[in-house]
Amino acid sequence: MRIGVLTGGGDCPGLNAVIRAVTKSLLRQCGAEVLGIEDGFAGLMDVAPRTQRLDWERVSGILMRGGTILGTSNKANPLASPALTQRTLDNARALGLDALVAIGGDGTMALAHGLAEHGLPVVGVPKTIDNDIVGCERSFGFDTAVATVTEALERIQTTGQSHGRVMIVETMGRYAGWIALEAGLAGAADVILLPEIDYDVDAVARVCRERETRQRYTVICIGEGAKVRGGAMTVERRVADSPDPLRLGGVAHVLREQLQPLLHSEVRATVLGHVQRGGVPTPFDRVLATQFGNQAAQLLMAGQVNRMVTLQAGVLGSLPLADVAHQHRNVPLDHPLLQAARQIGVSLGD
Ligand code: F6P
Repeated sequence: MRIGVLTGGGDCPGLNAVIRAVTKSLLRQCGAEVLGIEDGFAGLMDVAPRTQRLDWERVSGILMRGGTILGTSNKANPLASPALTQRTLDNARALGLDALVAIGGDGTMALAHGLAEHGLPVVGVPKTIDNDIVGCERSFGFDTAVATVTEALERIQTTGQSHGRVMIVETMGRYAGWIALEAGLAGAADVILLPEIDYDVDAVARVCRERETRQRYTVICIGEGAKVRGGAMTVERRVADSPDPLRLGGVAHVLREQLQPLLHSEVRATVLGHVQRGGVPTPFDRVLATQFGNQAAQLLMAGQVNRMVTLQAGVLGSLPLADVAHQHRNVPLDHPLLQAARQIGVSLGD
């Protein structure tokens, strides 16, 4: 067997742990040859495909490294035209690939599904700090991102307290509020604003004003996809050719402008950005990523292709790519964490 492995979409902590686990599992259990594809689908659709051999030495010592040793791309789209699709399939055939392991988010799963429909056997491994992939209640990278945001919120607390300010911290997460919700709770935010619940500026201002008289300062944790009631998401820029061309960002500044006229205290905004995607994975993410990589290898060896590794009710499994492609997993409005947040007095801005 010769298996290709690629990482697609935005990077996240734990990718190297998956590459290591899938490679070691395949080498040990069936003596397969493993070929790393460089820069996501870009390395497979270029005129000359770019690959590197993944052997025991190459994947040793990478478990705790952030990023991806293979490189990634969130622009490469092998389905952009029939000619590109054909070249990608021809390259896979020329490389002698029996199957491809595609480690990525919803965009990568959609591309993997498209290629699978054209006859390239694929196993998908879900990754994203956003934790928004269907069929995967916990994606690796998320725990690390939550830890990073939590630490940032703790640091913001002390400076906000000293100056008596309203501090807004914007997290990543795209259209899902998982990072803002979990980090907001872990970092003791007073207000948590999510893409799933449109916020009311007056309601948020009321919380800040009440705290102005009692605690002097307020910390607001807002997901980048959040929007004011009746408004639109804040788009930082559009990336041509990307399967998902919208890059969100900047809603913290929008909220700052909305709140400042309504408050006595100074309102400041911090956008955490890519710091949330960098650095070493937490032990939890290393273990989860190792399990996902090993599970992908087991699926390949069992001939179960065109499926994505899943984690549901704490149990590893798989689902057909067709069932997960082109979908997001948002925070359900009846999620117990939302209820708990409200019950302990955290405002959700509604
Ligand atoms: O999907 C992961 C993610 O980090 C999102 O949270 C964020 O909106 C997006 O990727 C940022 O993408 P880029 O690195 O292209 O700016």
